[in-house]
Parts: sequence; structure tokens; C-alpha cells
Amino acid sequence: MGRRLLNYLLLLLLVLLVVVLQVNLTCAGGEDSSTSSSSSSALFIFGDSTVDPGNNNYIETVPENRANYKPYGQNGFFQQSPPTGRFSDGRVIVDFIAEYAKLPLIPPFLEPSAEYVNGVNFGSGGAGILSETNQGLVIDLKTQLKNFEVVEKALTEKLGEKGAKKLISEAVYFISIGSNDYMGGYLGNPTMQQLYHPEEYVGMVIGNLTQAIQELYEKGGRKFGFLSLSPLGCLPALRAANPKGNEEGGCFEEACALALAHNNALKAVLTSLEHLFKGFKYCNSNFYVWLEDRINNPSKYGFKEGMNACCGTGPFRGLFTCGGTKKVTDYQLCDNADDYVWWDSFHPTERIHEQFAKALWDGPLDFVGPYNLQQLFFFNKLTKIFDLVDDLNRYSADLLTHN
Ligand SMILES: *[C@@H]1O[C@H](CO)[C@@H](O)[C@H](O)[C@H]1NC(C)=O
Repeated sequence: MGRRLLNYLLLLLLVLLVVVLQVNLTCAGGEDSSTSSSSSSALFIFGDSTVDPGNNNYIETVPENRANYKPYGQNGFFQQSPPTGRFSDGRVIVDFIAEYAKLPLIPPFLEPSAEYVNGVNFGSGGAGILSETNQGLVIDLKTQLKNFEVVEKALTEKLGEKGAKKLISEAVYFISIGSNDYMGGYLGNPTMQQLYHPEEYVGMVIGNLTQAIQELYEKGGRKFGFLSLSPLGCLPALRAANPKGNEEGGCFEEACALALAHNNALKAVLTSLEHLFKGFKYCNSNFYVWLEDRINNPSKYGFKEGMNACCGTGPFRGLFTCGGTKKVTDYQLCDNADDYVWWDSFHPTERIHEQFAKALWDGPLDFVGPYNLQQLFFFNKLTKIFDLVDDLNRYSADLLTHN
């Protein structure tokens, strides 16, 4: 009997799907075209150098937090001189995501001519979740959220309250931040290590990240994407700084452990937020394992080098001198960045950014989930179906356990 009922429900679901789809298709033409005209959502980006498109060009900071000089951007995708300020040989992950979502490039918030209707990028190289991380040299997450309020206001002026609310609730919020809290903010900061045990510190970082997510949710954000932390101890800079340097080429274990603890805590938080916040949908992934695999088996993925950086100097080219604008001006540059996992001592190549953007976009749901980014972007008006499927799942789970 349970099965017949389930079949019936599935049929019902299909019929509803078709009806909703048709309603959406017929309504699409009559939509207010002053809001984003494509079927895609806007993209708001928060984070650090993994996503910064050049915000740091506009703030006072140190050369370490900038990338608007050669050889950054050397692959020429952005035909711009000086380079845009992306910490890559070309594009970064959110450039690809915008492309897949059929959006134009998402501008840096601080760019004077930035338009907001397709989203904005608040990311800042060196930034942390905690205000203490690289304080005074970056735009920390709290300030990035303040900047979002500026955008919110401008959108309300442009689109009216209703239009702005709609844009904000349909937008995707992509958050990629946390590495700097563990590297410079903790492992590079003896005071913090004295004040907090590693577990306590992770709790504090995750607590502040959770607050940020909640704030965006309260402003109307519903769809979130996360780039979890990479195996931080295997960054060329951290391999080079590994106190157990005698283990030739080993990853810096404490850094890896912190990244893993952070990722596990984030995963747990997201699962509970999904239950607590109605309509909260997200895409998370296991960037740690994904990148570790490429670092250890580069040839399996079309790379030649997984350990050493393309640009930098010293062991693993882990001394962060790429570009020659810092204290030590000596640096070497590889012939072909596409052969490398790591572009400089801290940042992956465009190729890695692209491969990972693809994985997040339509990656298999055992790796990316509960939703992939494609679903978050394009199933806008179909959120009712998501909810229906949720209800059905719950209902059929009930049926099965009770039979
Ligand atoms: C956020 O971080 C600050 C330190 O910057 C800390 O004092 C506070 O307890 C943290 N908040 C949460 C909710 O963990």
C-alpha cells in the first residue's frame, strides 16, 4: 500500500512540476525588465583573496595584500594594465561562476563605476572573519556586511523597495573566507595562541561566520554558496614554513588540522541552519579533499606540478615574493602556469579556479550539496517545488518508517 501511495504522489508531483514550469514560462515575458533581465539571480560575494577582484587597490594596505602588478593576470584574459588585482594568473572562481550563471563580471564594491544590479563583490585579499585578522590592512567580514547595506540602499533607490527585496531574496550569496584567520590570525600570532586553544579559536571563527550568515538571512538572503577551506598546510608558503621541516616536503599539520576542524564545524552549522531558517538553501562542498587530490596526484588532472608554486622564491617557491614588490624582490616564474596547481605561495592558478567553479556549478551531489550552484541560480521561481519536494520527502520517509 505504501508503494502505491508513493507512486501516486510522484505522479502528482510531476503534474505540479509541469504546471509550475508553464506558469513560469508564460509569466517570464511580462516581467519587470528594470530588474535583472536574465533568468539568473544576482551574485553577492564576500571573502578574501580567493575572490577579491581588486577591492584592495582602493584601500591603504601592504604589497602582500595587493595583486595589481605583474606577473598577476599574465594570461591576458583581462586586457588591463595594471592588472586587476586578482590573486591569480587570470580569473578567479567567482568570475567563472558569473559566466556560468550568464551574468556579466561582478564588479568590486570599491570600483567607482560599479553597478549593483547583477551583484557586487566585497572580497578583500588578506581579510578574515575576525576583525583582529590583519586589522587595519583589509576589509574584514563585518565591514563587508556594512558595505552590503550601502548596496541595499542604492538598490532600493533604483528599483524601489519591492524590486530590491526581490533581487535580494533571489540572489546567491557566495562566501569564501577563513584561511587568514588560521594562518596569519592564529598560527602566525603567538598572542592569539596563548589566549585560545585551537578548538576555542575555531569556535570563535565559526561563531562569527554564523552571525554573518544570519545577518544576510535577516536581510532577505536565502541562497548561499560556500567555498570551504583548502588543506592550508599544503600551500607552498606553509610547506616552506613547516616547523617540522626535516620531513622533506611535508604539509604543515597544525594548519591542515585547523582547516579540517573549521570545515567540519561549518558543515554542522549549515545543516542546523537549514532546519532553523525557513527557506535557507545552500551549496557546500569538500574543497579540502578535492584540492588535496590534485596536490598529490597532479597528473591525474592534467597538471605537472602540485607542490611547488609557479611564482615565488625559496623552497617550494613558498616565499611570497611574486612580483618583486615586497621586501625580498627576488622571484622566479614558471614557463607555463597551466601546468601548476599553485600560482604563487598562497594562491592556486586560474586552471584550479576554473575546475573548482565547474565542480560547484554542476558537480555531483555526493560532492557538492545539498544543492549545486546551478540549481541555486536558475531554479529561482521554482522554490515552491523545492519546498514541495522537501515535504514529499518527509512524508514518504514517514510512510516508510510507519509501514
Ligand atoms: C566573534 O569574534 C570575537 C573576536 O573578534 C569574539 O570575541 C566573539 O565572541 C565572537 N563571536 C561569536 C558569536 O563567537
